[in-house]
Amino acid sequence: MIDKLYTSNCLTRDEMLQLLNNLSSEDADYLHERARLLTDQVFGRKIYIRGLIEFTNYCSRNCVYCGIRKDNTKVQRYRLSEEDVLKTCAQAHELGFRTFVLQGGEDHYYHNDKMVSLVKKMNDLFPDTATTLSIGERDAEIYAKLYENGANRFLLRHETIDKNRYAKLHPGMSFDERMECIQTLRTLNFQTGVGFLIGLPEQKITDYVDDLMFIKDFNPHMVGIGPFISHKDTPLGGAENGDVKTTLIMLSIIRLLLPKVLLPSTTALNTLSKDGSYSGFNAGANVLMLNLTPSGARENYNLYEGKTIIDISDGVNLNILKENMRKKGYILDMSRGDYNSSMH
Ligand code: 5AD
Repeated sequence: MIDKLYTSNCLTRDEMLQLLNNLSSEDADYLHERARLLTDQVFGRKIYIRGLIEFTNYCSRNCVYCGIRKDNTKVQRYRLSEEDVLKTCAQAHELGFRTFVLQGGEDHYYHNDKMVSLVKKMNDLFPDTATTLSIGERDAEIYAKLYENGANRFLLRHETIDKNRYAKLHPGMSFDERMECIQTLRTLNFQTGVGFLIGLPEQKITDYVDDLMFIKDFNPHMVGIGPFISHKDTPLGGAENGDVKTTLIMLSIIRLLLPKVLLPSTTALNTLSKDGSYSGFNAGANVLMLNLTPSGARENYNLYEGKTIIDISDGVNLNILKENMRKKGYILDMSRGDYNSSMH
């Protein structure tokens, strides 16, 4: 079945279930090897670099797993000013970054006009740079304005495709509305990213199968997945973390289902995995997000505990990372790294 995935990029739901139910650790090694081989064939050894700016941790939502949920009164809230975001971008642009990912909670301040204005300024100042947003749900008109003003990509994880589980995890939110947002983003021509959490309490293999079938069917440009990591000041505080092995298996299957997809080795994976991001690359990931959030703010952007970031505050660090990656057989690539449907 791994061979079938590799050659046809497709499995039926039953086959997927059978694969996940019977995967030995040797099978998992073979799966990762095939996924990496396919990644090499499509992208070579390049790893695309993104600059992550966590620009606000104010959030009006209450996702039960998330450390910056509204009801967590223990977080020190912050919001970078437009000026601070632009300054961060300018420094990173100087270092060679050509993709910025603005990530934040669903913050009222940066909800509509202020968000559009920020995106417009980024686009005016750095026209050769891709702007990715990871700011949650907005009305379709706002998404459209953000696109018109220069945002190119949007990450909105579906989190879990099981409607009941979604409802339990996201009080006051609607699964259908989330799906509608995701559809709208794609219709507006954003390069669109979806994704799910791994190892949530009560999550089952059939859930992963459904998440994978959805991803194959939706055919997104980007997929962000990572292990659930508990945060003590949330309702899931005492819960067990998701595991690295399952995350790596999911990364490899996603790569084999969607050869051209942009697939990050995420910060959550880096936090739990002993070989950090490389385990993800070896399983088929081809994107790395480096943290550009100014210190003073980033310490308070804890979606989960123990976040291990890769800090790039100057050119020297970037050169060290480049060299470390080279030693592991990967090439750090600072170009925009847009989704390219004609790659093969
Ligand atoms: N553990 C792992 N990932 C989390 N996210 C939010 N909280 C956690 C957590 N406790 C993820 C969500 C969200 C992304 C930005 O971070 O999937 O979409």
